[in-house]
Amino acid sequence: MKRVVIAGVSGAIGGALATRLIERDPEVRVIGLCRNPERAPEALHAHGRSAVLAWDAEGENAATAAAAALESILSREEGIDTFIYAAGLLHGTDIFPEKRLEDLSAASLARSFAVNATGFSMLAQALLPWLRHREFKRVAAISAKVGSITDNGFGGWYAYRSSKAALNMLVRNLSIELPRRCKPVACVSLHPGTTESALSEPFSQSLAKLKVHSARATACNLLDVLDAVVDEDNGRFLSWDGSELPW
Ligand SMILES: NC(=O)c1ccc[n+]([C@@H]2O[C@H](COP(=O)([O-])OP(=O)(O)OC[C@H]3O[C@@H](n4cnc5c(N)ncnc54)[C@H](OP(=O)(O)O)[C@@H]3O)[C@@H](O)[C@H]2O)c1
Repeated sequence: MKRVVIAGVSGAIGGALATRLIERDPEVRVIGLCRNPERAPEALHAHGRSAVLAWDAEGENAATAAAAALESILSREEGIDTFIYAAGLLHGTDIFPEKRLEDLSAASLARSFAVNATGFSMLAQALLPWLRHREFKRVAAISAKVGSITDNGFGGWYAYRSSKAALNMLVRNLSIELPRRCKPVACVSLHPGTTESALSEPFSQSLAKLKVHSARATACNLLDVLDAVVDEDNGRFLSWDGSELPW
């Protein structure tokens, strides 16, 4: 991984991924995307070969604008070899995981789909010109196990679950199209494991029974998985320990 774009780099997992990539290889170039570039990790700002660009998954033409800004930093010919989508929305102003049908709101569903699913596909579309080279490339969406339809035995969390299921379908579709257009490539969904972050914070008490990883540990786990990914892994849903999850 030498030329990497990470969307959601102001988040715990996205930020830890960027920091770890820079720590382990000072030659890497990481381009971080997030709503407020000043919230990106210090390592990214301090690293001369890297940059942070403004991007809001809910903004109009956000992906096209981010790609236009990327062009002045990294040429299409140079390309990127890794795109990681680490933006995500579980709760926020007027949004909280639904327990029952009456809790659903069209606005929350729309926002969740915009950040958890649509943002990924629009960026993949805008970044396609950077993926059309002959080196092996990784396209990875940070999804969630609760987005697995097969694994859903509890219900609830309608907007989050269904938008992550949509993200998984986008990954699966892309994993069929991308090899035709920019082989060699592996497009995967990744479950990061429960991780300390603003997203998981309101659930820390109920998560106490589960193993909760630091964002740094999650970044190391996910990079181990991504390092090991080969073309044959294209179209798979992988957990943080490398095991396969059902769609
Ligand atoms: N933490 C966990 O236990 C866990 C478990 C399973 C899956 N995941 C997934 O892992 C990914 C990273 O989550 P995290 O734990 O690192 O949470 P986090 O610290 O809350 O990070 C969320 C990221 O999403 C960004 N985001 C939210 N709305 C956005 C928008 N409209 N446009 C652009 N970016 C937006 C945030 O940007 P701002 O800084 O601007 O808010 C932030 O960079 C998410 O996809 C999440 O669903 C996390």
